[in-house]
Amino acid sequence: MRGHRLFRGLHLAAVPSLSRKRLTSHTVRRADDVRAFFDDVAQDYRESHGKAPTLLRDRLRLLRALLPQARGGLLVEIGCGPGQHLLALADHFERAIGLDLSPAMIELAEHLRHQHPLRDRIAFAVDPAEQLATLAPTSVDTLFCVGAFEHMLDRGQVLRQIRRVLKPDGCFICLTPNGRYLWYTGIAAHLGYEVRHLTSDHFITEGEFRTLLATSGFTLVTVGYWSFVPRGDMPALAGTVMTALDAIGRVFGIPDFRGGLYIAAAPTPDR
Ligand SMILES: C[S@@+](CC[C@H](N)C(=O)[O-])C[C@H]1O[C@@H](n2cnc3c(N)ncnc32)[C@H](O)[C@@H]1O
Repeated sequence: MRGHRLFRGLHLAAVPSLSRKRLTSHTVRRADDVRAFFDDVAQDYRESHGKAPTLLRDRLRLLRALLPQARGGLLVEIGCGPGQHLLALADHFERAIGLDLSPAMIELAEHLRHQHPLRDRIAFAVDPAEQLATLAPTSVDTLFCVGAFEHMLDRGQVLRQIRRVLKPDGCFICLTPNGRYLWYTGIAAHLGYEVRHLTSDHFITEGEFRTLLATSGFTLVTVGYWSFVPRGDMPALAGTVMTALDAIGRVFGIPDFRGGLYIAAAPTPDR
């Protein structure tokens, strides 16, 4: 039966329609609640923020632009979910590992890995990002995180673990919602819409990320904003307005109009 449910999840992930189910916030008190939420989501995994193929294409394009020029070695994704980004980028690296808090997500990722031509050099495992217990110190060339950092309960601890496992010339890339985005800071509440899947979700600002990186042993290499308009979580008219604002924000460099924040960072050398 479980196999059927997984297959249904994979099928739905490819449906290019907008979700019209209203986003509601689930109460989180501890890590077990986060795991339970994503285990549940994995049974019917789908992109809920907008058109799945478009969002995936945009994120992969940005990730490819942010990856170091000299690729190769070990690629790791934390909070990998079903592994769609890792599986798409694995061909640039000798080995690729996807890690996630949720056993059900890893089961879904394993299902996809078996269909991948490079499956023998890809692995998935359950491992919370605050621990990264499956990774040895200074073993990772590139580590990335997409749409998961905002769900992690102890982001300082996550960054310290990333710092521990990255090689001295390694690279950390993160794509996450922008904490300064007008939809999150005011418009959604004004219209009576929720923006967080979990009550513990935190949308980080560029300023907060800069401070967190600096205090966790990282040097910021690149920071910027990308076109993430969570139209699936908004009424249709708001989606049109926010898409127009995104275009204006892109041209005039207005962070509050942009839904996505990205950074690339390198370990600061030890003194
Ligand atoms: C919205 S999904 C995104 C999955 C994937 N990165 C993608 O974009 O398709 C967020 C994922 O983060 C994982 N996650 C949340 N908190 C985590 C933590 N502390 N450590 C590892 N994974 C975590 C969840 O289990 C879930 O699979």
